[in-house]
Amino acid sequence: MSNIAVLTSGGDSPGMNAAIRAVVRYGIEKGFTVYGVERGFEGLIEGSFRIMKRRDVGDILQRGGTILRTARSQRFKTPEGKVRAAQNLETFQIDTLIVIGGEGSMSGALELYKNHGSKVICLPGTIDNDLGYTDTTIGFDTAVNTVLDAITRIRDTSSAHDRTTVIEVMGRRSGDIALYSGLSGGAEYVLVPEVESDFNDLCRKIIEGKNNRRQHSVIIKAEGYPMDSNELAEALAERTGKDVRLVVLSYLQRGGSPSFRDRMLATECGMKAIALVEEGVSNRAIGTVGGIIKDFDLEEALSIEPIFNQGLYESIGILSK
Ligand code: F6P
Repeated sequence: MSNIAVLTSGGDSPGMNAAIRAVVRYGIEKGFTVYGVERGFEGLIEGSFRIMKRRDVGDILQRGGTILRTARSQRFKTPEGKVRAAQNLETFQIDTLIVIGGEGSMSGALELYKNHGSKVICLPGTIDNDLGYTDTTIGFDTAVNTVLDAITRIRDTSSAHDRTTVIEVMGRRSGDIALYSGLSGGAEYVLVPEVESDFNDLCRKIIEGKNNRRQHSVIIKAEGYPMDSNELAEALAERTGKDVRLVVLSYLQRGGSPSFRDRMLATECGMKAIALVEEGVSNRAIGTVGGIIKDFDLEEALSIEPIFNQGLYESIGILSK
């Protein structure tokens, strides 16, 4: 069989299109027929397969989102859904399925491999950077740059009004977007799910700043930090006497043209996926370690917990004194 299929699944991330483009163009170059599956595992269940030509992926390298569209398929979580998906791979005689997505999508691919014998290769597509086996994920760099731009703009108005602004960023179980944007954006405080923060300490920081002629502060809060952002802003206002505003960046962080780093990572991962298919290798997760593209056993890759950079986190407190 010389057919391969590619899908994007879960939350979209900038660079997914660059990865699709590399898979399609490199795949065709190497003699494969490349199918695009629409709306992730949902399309796999429904049989939404279409053959992709080189021109189908023209002019998408610079675009955010995903031309194949994506979904968080509930049906795929059921045994019947997975059987249906595996059957469609057989019907279309797909040798290997290439899945571009985050942890949930990769776990889905692993189940297809383990329980149905489908050959799978995964690319790390998520803005959250919450996959331990790879230094970074496709979309993370762009998302951090987007947040950084927002911090810079918010800082201007925050300083003009002597305000404290809480900026909520994405990251359900990972504080990486908050950490890296907070550090590079000069935030006064960063709240992440990985670290238990002391509310008194946060309030002290704001009041001490005020006493030290710093009238405005920016606090970055990852959405996964276990406190409601509105409640946090209200509690801060009450305790510090400051004018506190909340900005939830939400989906703004997921869209936009991918950065140079994300385009490179996506392209290199896509080409590596085709190289692995050519070698007849499957059940692999592709990532980057020390700037080098590598592949790992999928199950092992998923078992590696991401390491939160505690040292960098602590430096925020020092740099923002
Ligand atoms: O999976 C990435 C992510 O960006 C998370 O940080 C966020 O919680 C989630 O997607 C939101 O996704 P949606 O609302 O599209 O399901």
